[in-house]
Amino acid sequence: MRLSLLAALAAGALLASAPAQAQQPIVIKFSHVVAPDTPKGKGAEKFKELAEKYTNGKVKIEVYPNSQLYKDKEEVEALQLGAVQMLAPSLAKFGPLGVKEFEVFDLPYILPDKAALRRVTEGEVGKSLFKKLESKGIVGLGYWDNGFKIMSANKPLRMPEDFRGLKMRIQSSKVLEAQMRALGAIPQVLAFSEVYQALQTGVVDGSENTASNMYTQKHYEVQKYGTLSDHGYIGYAVIANKKFWDGLPADVRGQLEKAMHEATDYTNQISQKENDEALDEMKKSGRITFIELTPEQKAAWKQALEPVYKEMEPRVGKAIIEEFRREAGAVTH
Ligand code: LMR
Repeated sequence: MRLSLLAALAAGALLASAPAQAQQPIVIKFSHVVAPDTPKGKGAEKFKELAEKYTNGKVKIEVYPNSQLYKDKEEVEALQLGAVQMLAPSLAKFGPLGVKEFEVFDLPYILPDKAALRRVTEGEVGKSLFKKLESKGIVGLGYWDNGFKIMSANKPLRMPEDFRGLKMRIQSSKVLEAQMRALGAIPQVLAFSEVYQALQTGVVDGSENTASNMYTQKHYEVQKYGTLSDHGYIGYAVIANKKFWDGLPADVRGQLEKAMHEATDYTNQISQKENDEALDEMKKSGRITFIELTPEQKAAWKQALEPVYKEMEPRVGKAIIEEFRREAGAVTH
């Protein structure tokens, strides 16, 4: 009797310690659509490295690049349903989710440079946009850079007239749609993973993207010309499923926030270099010719694109456009 009681107690003690020993790590699936060798791809890997280090193995980050799990639109739905826990969609992709104010980032020539961008994302606009995601079951964790866009086609695009009648691939954003129409082109929404084939087979004539995306997706192999127009910007909001994030033990969440903070700094530091190197590689390949706009040509683009602001004001919101412009133009000391 006494022995069996002891045995039972020992077994109980074993059982009690078993969960602690065999505790499974919390798995976070981080899905994205670009190649690993891009600012976002490297940022995701950096976050994984830091998050696993700071949580001391309590968290395991599984990164799925290249639309392996989900394409553009599906990935946000998957996050909302909890099939993946983290994503970093481009800012253009939040409009279709109903948070149209994000499309302010797509307005042509709204950002003069990265410093202006940083003032916006780190200022009130950046915060207020993240707040708007909460009602969608999403928490915003950081803004990651990619870079300024290049327009590509099989003919040189120097003046707005050169776009006339061209089918141009865009991300699913009403502002980008208006932008292409203002240039006389026909916008076609396509998932990122489908762009190479669409360019190759002539389903679309051209596209707009950053150098790092054009290079890693091999768009430069199927486009003869790229215009270094810097007319728009591609960047990301790193997001998580809010219920999952809020349900994490507070210490773990704090460690992940620290990892995110550092991964954000890292990504934003490397993004320009990544894009510069990708541009150099494409130039070296000899398969695509890059065009710089003269000041007159650039002025003509700006003029052709100016009506997009008025047209999109009711959708994006006058107040956010004005606040954005104010913050972007603010002087820092
Ligand atoms: C695109 O769809 O063109 C890009 O936004 C993809 C990305 O995430 O950089």
